[in-house]
Amino acid sequence: MYKKIIRPILFRFNAERVHEWTLGALKLAGKIPVLRGLLRATFTISDPRLEREVLGMTFPNPVGMAAGFDKDARVYRELGMLGLGFVEVGTLTPLPQPGNPKPRLFRLPKDRAIINRMGFNNRGMETAAENLRARDKKERDKKERKKPIVGINIGKNTLTPNEQAPADYLKLFRRLYELGDYFVVNVSCPNVAGLTKLQTTEYLLSVVEPLLEFRQGQDTYKPILIKISPDLTREETDAALKVVTDTLVDGVVATNTTTSREGLHISHKKLNAIGKGGLSGGPLTARALDTVKYAREKIGPTYPIIATGGVMTTTDAVAMLDAGADLVQIYTGMIYNGPGFARKICKAILTEK
Ligand SMILES: Cc1cc2nc3c(=O)[nH]c(=O)nc-3n(C[C@H](O)[C@H](O)[C@H](O)COP(=O)(O)O)c2cc1C
Repeated sequence: MYKKIIRPILFRFNAERVHEWTLGALKLAGKIPVLRGLLRATFTISDPRLEREVLGMTFPNPVGMAAGFDKDARVYRELGMLGLGFVEVGTLTPLPQPGNPKPRLFRLPKDRAIINRMGFNNRGMETAAENLRARDKKERDKKERKKPIVGINIGKNTLTPNEQAPADYLKLFRRLYELGDYFVVNVSCPNVAGLTKLQTTEYLLSVVEPLLEFRQGQDTYKPILIKISPDLTREETDAALKVVTDTLVDGVVATNTTTSREGLHISHKKLNAIGKGGLSGGPLTARALDTVKYAREKIGPTYPIIATGGVMTTTDAVAMLDAGADLVQIYTGMIYNGPGFARKICKAILTEK
């Protein structure tokens, strides 16, 4: 139904507009109790065999929504109704910012891929804090169970020079500390000029050390992960992973989008017309899987790895888990497979693992 009817209709419209409609529809559905129940009944699987103890928490299942879908923490609760065990909101920056000029989001249907150069468009940390505080209150009031775990992905404002980036990350971490279950330091987005340079050991340390210091003084413990790019050389990957093993950083999210355009079926003309941006979906699968495998070998069995990148089929998801990932995230796969994708993966995990 989704692939045959809904997707062809949606793909006729501007990709970013469809994204906004989707968020609006999800929000609306979440307000109507009958629809909420229907969505839950249709898309979620509750099974203790799917639960995962990772980062000191119990994830209801290992399939999450990757960062960038719910940038402002508007629909994480509703995404839980679509069967996602966790949602990574953001990337958030301290101040609101509009992101890059539109158009900046493109579908490549032949390649089951997306190119985006959104550029951290978001409403800033104060708006996100409001949205996340509403969550805490609702949960206290209703004692709701089975909510998705919420990760908060943090980045710097585009106008903040790299030398001042650590202050941006710290601002976000302090402000949102009590409102997220785990945090992801995003230094791997290719759409913010110079950001990926922060993946060197020296820069990464300058970003994470203030966060670790802040965490030490808190009553609660919030895990911190580093999100890495699939475009790093082995030496660069080693340098980023060394920060995980040498400090109290808790784990890795692998990977972000790639700037590579290898092996695409889209015509050169169309590709040139699209221009710069991070590629996600089918063409990223092998590269992301390779990074996850490598990271697992390199950092050993204990550090948590969240795999994301090109999970387009249930087999891709299972391969990520087999390669040593503790959890998987989806984004482009959801656009191409529809709202039942998380459930499908959960079912496959139950039968194949
Ligand atoms: C439109 C779009 C926006 C994204 N925005 C972010 C973001 O703000 N922060 C981030 O860390 N990753 C962002 N990502 C990257 C995803 O979180 C994920 O790492 C990447 O898309 C690979 O997964 P996929 O192939 O399943 O989509 C974005 C991806 C897309 C497609």
